[in-house]
Amino acid sequence: MIALASDHGGFALKEEIKKHLDGKGVAYEDFGCFAPESCDYPDMAKPACEAVVSGRCEKALLFCGTGIGISMAANKIKGIRACACSDAFSAKYTRLHNDANALCLGGRVVGPGLAAELVDIFLETPFEGGRHQTRVDKVMALEK
Ligand code: RB5
Repeated sequence: MIALASDHGGFALKEEIKKHLDGKGVAYEDFGCFAPESCDYPDMAKPACEAVVSGRCEKALLFCGTGIGISMAANKIKGIRACACSDAFSAKYTRLHNDANALCLGGRVVGPGLAAELVDIFLETPFEGGRHQTRVDKVMALEK
């Protein structure tokens, strides 16, 4: 199960990605927003990220205008490693090296085709572990 959340700036892209996930048979839960009216991204980031931390969802896909604000909100939630990405290399390596569990995309930055590719890379790339596990553990120790 994948958690989805956006503000108004990422709403249209979230809807596109839902169609993409439907086509691939990937299950998701949408934590809003549910209309393009102006809203505040922390309000939707919080329940989506909490679903990841609780184990109900495996990863989160988060959307705002830039991908940045919602990544900042997500990274305030204990247990979340969120990355704002707009290129394939970063989407791949934030999984391989950072074990990121939330991908943040900007609806005003990337088009639906690139976003779908970034989502696929993010969902399909495993964490490499090893020396990166040590580093991720040190990152997570910083939030205590
Ligand atoms: C909303 O206008 C915009 O600020 C928001 O979607 C996001 O880009 C913030 O980082």
